[in-house]
Amino acid sequence: MDSVDPQSLSAGGARLWGGRFAGGPAEALARLSVSVQFDWRLAPYDLAASRAHARVLARAGLFTNDELGRTLAALDDLEAACAAGLFRPTVEDEDVHTALERGLLERLGALGGKLRAGRSRNDQVATDLRLYLRDRARGIAARLVELADALVEQAERHLDTPAPGMTHLQHAQPVTFGHQLLAHVHPLLRDLDRLRDWDARAAVCPLGSGALAGSSLPLDPVRVARELGFASAAPNSIDAVSDRDFVAEFLFAAAMTGVHLSRLGEEVVLWTSQEFGWVELDDSFATGSSIMPQKKNADIAELARGKSGRLIGALVTVLTMLKGLPLAYDRDMQEDKEPAFDAVDTLDVVLPALAGMISTMTVRVDRLAAAAPVGYTLATEVADWLVRRGVPFREAHDATGQLVALCASRDCRLSEVSDDDLRAISPHLEPEVREVLSVRSALAARTTPGSTGPKAVADQWGDVADKLTDWRDWAALPVVPR
Ligand code: ARG
Repeated sequence: MDSVDPQSLSAGGARLWGGRFAGGPAEALARLSVSVQFDWRLAPYDLAASRAHARVLARAGLFTNDELGRTLAALDDLEAACAAGLFRPTVEDEDVHTALERGLLERLGALGGKLRAGRSRNDQVATDLRLYLRDRARGIAARLVELADALVEQAERHLDTPAPGMTHLQHAQPVTFGHQLLAHVHPLLRDLDRLRDWDARAAVCPLGSGALAGSSLPLDPVRVARELGFASAAPNSIDAVSDRDFVAEFLFAAAMTGVHLSRLGEEVVLWTSQEFGWVELDDSFATGSSIMPQKKNADIAELARGKSGRLIGALVTVLTMLKGLPLAYDRDMQEDKEPAFDAVDTLDVVLPALAGMISTMTVRVDRLAAAAPVGYTLATEVADWLVRRGVPFREAHDATGQLVALCASRDCRLSEVSDDDLRAISPHLEPEVREVLSVRSALAARTTPGSTGPKAVADQWGDVADKLTDWRDWAALPVVPR
């Protein structure tokens, strides 16, 4: 059940309020107030919550067995009709809750009006949104794993491919390209951790809190919570309907992911430029220019970078909306949904595109290897060689700096100066220093855990691949037990 185009909604709703009002709402009010065009996507979750609520009312003696059976059957029928697009909201359905009550009334007559006992849209909407976001968090997790998988697969091919490592976007020290690729997987693993941590805090059920004060009817919020897959029932009914931390926190997780995707996107933009030429994108994951026939652009990477702006914006929107709201529910809180839905939709389109782009790109090993020593990236090897011979690093750094200056003035490599030149810079600089002046030896020397040497990167690769297997399992778990 997707969101709905307001233009397509036809008239004929059944308001959930109005007894004390002399006339219907002004059109201007209705147009401002209506949320069904976007909150319709909560329908499956609202229906799940309605089933649990119906059972609780029956246990409280407020529904006969026959009424419960008919109500559950009508909810199933309504859910099928919604899924098939046979039941649609109308402009007069203020929101998803109103539309679904109309659907029940159409099926059950007066009995359809019984389910509203003991609940309010305030606890319903908070419950629906938690269920929706917990469900979608798993979808996002699955897509994060797909992107991480794509990076991990590429990394496996380049565990010992030399590349220039950069700081300040300047050549710094040689790294393996697999290490660089895996450096983009760890942020995604933290994003996954964040979603699971968030999920544990979001697993609190507001249903039973009513408008704000709980209910005088003998409801069973603990049982409802369990039926809907929550870990617990809300401990305070006022907080339960006022709290939107779970939205803000979800949006922080989404924004942080957006920032990670943006940084990956920026690297791909660089890597695919003429100047770098490290990577070539597959035709199916690149775009052309309408005027320049030769162009091949990394639009996916740029869109990933650009869309991080709206993810950050969604977080700021919700925090700003919440700031200063008195407890309990305020209508301002209706503004939580569009940013949350937009964040979900944004990640749902960006992540698969990035995954496809990464998994199909070709890495130009020759270009990377040629670039790895450029810019005197082996200078640290000289300084470390001197340190191993007892020279204080301060002196070693200085001598190596002089060597770099000499080579820069002659436009030659560090290994290309004569023995005499070396000795003239420092008596400690003996000809054997040339043994460390290759990219291969610089990489092989980096053996500590987490470093860029091929052996350490292979170990890292194995750990990351194992972790992703666990995450695949988590992403597949349903939120509402079936
Ligand atoms: N559409 C509303 C929202 O999203 C539902 C709750 C309305 N509650 C109310 N008291 N008007 O927040």
